[in-house]
Order: sequence, then C-alpha cells, then structure tokens
Amino acid sequence: MTSDKSLELLGGISARVFLRDYWQKKPLLIRQALPGFQSPISADELAGLSLEEDVESRLVLEHGERPWELRRGPFTEQTYQELPERDWTLLVQAVDQVVPEVAELVEHFRFLPNWRIDDIMISFATPGGGVGPHFDNYDVFLLQAQGKRRWRIGQMCDSESPLLDHADLRILADFEGTEEWVLEPGDMLYLPPRLAHYGTAEDDCMTYSLGFRAPSAAEVLTHFTDFLAQFLPDEERYSDADLEPTDDPFQIQQDALDRLKKLLAEHMSDERLLLTWFGQFMTEPRYPERVTEAADIDEDEFLSAISEGAVLLRNPAARLAWSEVDIGLLLFASGQSRLLPGHLRELLKLVCSAGALHADNLRQWLDDEDGRNLVRQLVIQGSLEFADE
Ligand code: SIN
Ligand code: CO
Repeated sequence: MTSDKSLELLGGISARVFLRDYWQKKPLLIRQALPGFQSPISADELAGLSLEEDVESRLVLEHGERPWELRRGPFTEQTYQELPERDWTLLVQAVDQVVPEVAELVEHFRFLPNWRIDDIMISFATPGGGVGPHFDNYDVFLLQAQGKRRWRIGQMCDSESPLLDHADLRILADFEGTEEWVLEPGDMLYLPPRLAHYGTAEDDCMTYSLGFRAPSAAEVLTHFTDFLAQFLPDEERYSDADLEPTDDPFQIQQDALDRLKKLLAEHMSDERLLLTWFGQFMTEPRYPERVTEAADIDEDEFLSAISEGAVLLRNPAARLAWSEVDIGLLLFASGQSRLLPGHLRELLKLVCSAGALHADNLRQWLDDEDGRNLVRQLVIQGSLEFADE
C-alpha cells in the first residue's frame, strides 16, 4: 500500500499529515527516509551522462572565470581533467529518463499526483561545492545519495528578493540562514516553493532532487486562452446590441466592462475545454524530441507481436494522465488528448500506472476494438514503446 510506503518515507508522518502541515508550507527534514539508500548511478556514470549530446547538464564553479561560473554541457573528458580539486558542482537533469532504477524512486511518492512531478535531477559536488543560496518556485525533495551535504535554509522569497548581478544563476544577494542540517545518505529534506536554501558539499557528495511542476498564473492564462482561441470563430466579437445613447462618447463605461466580463466568463467556464487544455499542457514532455512518432504498425502485426510475448513500456520521456468528462474519458499522452468511451476506464488506469504492458495484463483489452486501437495508437505516437529483446 502507498500509505505504508509513504509513512516510512516521511519519517513516520502519514501522507495526509504531511500534506496538511508541510506540503507547500514548511520544510521537513526526514532522517533515513530511505534507510541504506545506495545510488543506482555512480559519480563517474553521472559525469559520463554529462558528455552526452542529448542530456541536459550544467557545471557551477564557485571560483571559476567569475564567481559562480555556470557552464552548460555537453562536457568532455578534458573538462573534468581541468576542474579544480573542490568547490564545484555538476547537475544533470532528468536522470530518471535515462536510468530506469532512478525512475523507480518515484514509486515512493505515489501519494502525490504524478502529473505534478517534473523530473529527478542529480548533482555531484566536490567539497565546498554548491550552487549558491537561492530559491526555487517549486516544491522539491532533496535526497542525499552519497557523502554529506550541509543544507542551510533561510527566508521566504519572491520575485522582489534582491539577487546578485549574475546573468545565468539566480543567487540571492541576502541569505538569512535560520536552520541547518548535515544530510547523510538516505536522509531527505522537503522544501516548499520560495524558501531560500543553500547546500554545500562536506565531501564528495551526490544529491537527488525530485522536483515538481506548477504552471504560473501567467502561463495558465496565456496558454489556456491561446488554446481556447482556436475554437472561436472570427465573427464572435464584443457585441452591444443593448447599447443606449451615451452622454460622453469618449468614456469607456461600466456597461462595456460588463459585456467583456460576460464574454470572458462564458468561455472561461467551459470545464471540458479547461480540462483538455490542462491535461495536454501538464503531459507535454520536457524533451519532446524524445517522443517521436513510430512507423505505422498495422493491427495484425501489433496483435501478433503481443501474443508472441512482446512487452510494451512507457517511453521514459512520455507523460501520461487520465480524467473523466460528462461524455466519456480523456487520456492525455505527451501533450495530446483522446476522448474515449467509459468502458476503457481500467485500461486507462493500467496504461498510466503499469510498468509494463503485455499479453497477460492486456488480454481482455485486445479483444475490444477501442482498447486495442488505443494501445496501438500510443505506440505509433511514441508514448509507449516495445522493450528491446
Ligand atoms: C544541488 O543539488 O546542488 C542543488 C539543488 C537545489 O538547491 O535545488
Ligand atoms: Co534549489
């Protein structure tokens, strides 16, 4: 059960209490959230990933060509040979998409909506290394994976908080430390959005950051209205068939505002469109180039592959979610939505949550035309892929 798993992860606090008292509100240090945790990836392997063209990586050198120098990957072997002994950090984004054992960590966080989770970033730092005091606009769980890191936390910040004059990094000009802890492997620190924090490596250390995503109000408004606008014909306009003679032809009066408010309210309250937009938006892949359309596969070919033992896995870069509307179910897959009949509910749940799809767990769905079409379409879209074997 998720509840048992989360009880240990949250240091004896239930998921309900964690969400009520800490989530988005205040930090929580959990000693031995994952007792005996060993990183499935070594520092060398992490550095190896940072040499790859399609992996997003950064290096932060406290005493580089300038204070807090930021370099962007991909790096080379030589980059590492030339780095100083200490005071630098390597950060590699979305390691969960390339190392399946890292992706499995998400299973401990099933008490949170999966579509809120962004990715698992892993940092490796030499003694003294860190990215400076800063704040993020997202919740984060910082799991210590190797070595020791000192975390200091400070004040709540916002976009008015003074920053150092630095083109690439948002480092706080003032950090008012309030508490600090040294985290050891298996320890975890939860930080709510906007809380100032400053991590420095005590020795060679590796930290996993499970980050969350939350669209800004500005993103919700601009993206949703762009989405809505596609469905609105040009002739639908501000209209004032109820207009009365005006006293001052230069004044914009309340009646005009009321008509605008009515127009906005009419469109903004369309729940089906709001949900469709939101599901598409929240499942957009971070790296869309990793979710590419596969060659068309005809139904017979598809069914015989499955019956011969082929296994389908979620493309690690794909995001999936489902929901319900008055006229059926919606499946969101990597930025696209599909309206599906209600009898596919259990299939949608399976597709979103199952580690693997195969003849056993798909059996009843392959006899159903909507079911087999859906699974095949997800393979063609690139959200599901055949496991190599
Ligand atoms: C790090 O792992 O060094 C940085 C993580 C963070 O502060 O968000
Ligand atoms: Co941070």
